[in-house]
Amino acid sequence: MEEKKVIFSGIQPSGTITLGNYLGAVKNWVELQDEYNCLYSVVDMHSITVRQNPAELRKRCVEFLCMFMACGLDPEKNIMYFQSHVSAHAELAWVLNCYTYMGELSRMTQFKDKSAKHSDNINAGLFTYPVLMAADILLYQTDLVPVGVDQKQHIEITRDIASRFNALYGDVFKIPEPYIPKVGAKIMSLTEPTKKMSKSDPNPKGFISLMDDSTAIAKKIKGAVTDSDGRICRGEGKEGIENLMNILSSTTGESIESIEERFAGRGYGEFKSEVAEAVVECLRPVKARYDEYIKDKAYVESVYKKGAEQASRIAYKTLNKVYKKVGFVPRAR
Ligand code: AMP
Ligand code: TRP
Repeated sequence: MEEKKVIFSGIQPSGTITLGNYLGAVKNWVELQDEYNCLYSVVDMHSITVRQNPAELRKRCVEFLCMFMACGLDPEKNIMYFQSHVSAHAELAWVLNCYTYMGELSRMTQFKDKSAKHSDNINAGLFTYPVLMAADILLYQTDLVPVGVDQKQHIEITRDIASRFNALYGDVFKIPEPYIPKVGAKIMSLTEPTKKMSKSDPNPKGFISLMDDSTAIAKKIKGAVTDSDGRICRGEGKEGIENLMNILSSTTGESIESIEERFAGRGYGEFKSEVAEAVVECLRPVKARYDEYIKDKAYVESVYKKGAEQASRIAYKTLNKVYKKVGFVPRAR
């Protein structure tokens, strides 16, 4: 029998999981759990590249893990863990730092954006962030990395670093491919539909949190910025409507063409009500499951303990190979 392919993805425990994260990332992960060997990490080490409140970070990490499970990721089928619990991530990142150029890191758009946003704290971790991400992925001999389009550049640099290392030392790393969904790959802000929906948006009207109640969801969608053209279709200047069509399509599975057809000649009010209802229905079971998990501390602990153990076993195989290749003396047994 052919070995199952490996999938790795990570999510930063910052802000709150949004509809964008769900439709652009986590929902797709659920669909992959039977066909692949999947690892999903709450990447706490990445999140300290910007200042965090320690108590809040700790709380959010657990909330994110519960959210993964609430979204349908089964801990029996997937390896789920906190990045800081598997020290091989930091160890491989150090080695890969020595095989990554300043020039390539300074071209990363996420670095440019984040350093503009946090100009008082442009730390080295923010700069080498993609190297830690490359380590995350390469440790597990990953085939596919499901992410939103915004992360494509980081997958490309991961491939470059891996190929460079392999060219020097032979086939140490599998070269990963990005896995980007067709619809819902980029959900935009409800208030500024030319910007992506972000969990760090200071204006909560711009995003839908998986924690929002149905009234809040409906209110945010009804208030979503659109245009004055009045037609429900794609096109220039129609980013707001297009985004709502994408949301409807991703939550119900209906094609964009069918939505355009069905809503021809109908008004924005009616359309928005339907989008709101679709989102509420889509998130209802997620919320119910989340409320159960977050109360069950012992179970959640058992999930991340087992996850870290399973991940470590795989990760250290790769790390040992790397240490040997670069010329470190093997540990005495
Ligand atoms: P982040 O929120 O930046 O930590 O992203 C976590 C995952 O969700 C990544 O795979 C992102 O590409 C994806 N993601 C974040 N925001 C969106 C969005 N608005 N639309 C689609 N995918 C997103
Ligand atoms: N950088 C990713 C983001 O901001 C999160 C991340 C960290 C990640 N390590 C990863 C995603 C490895 C995929 C694979 O969304």
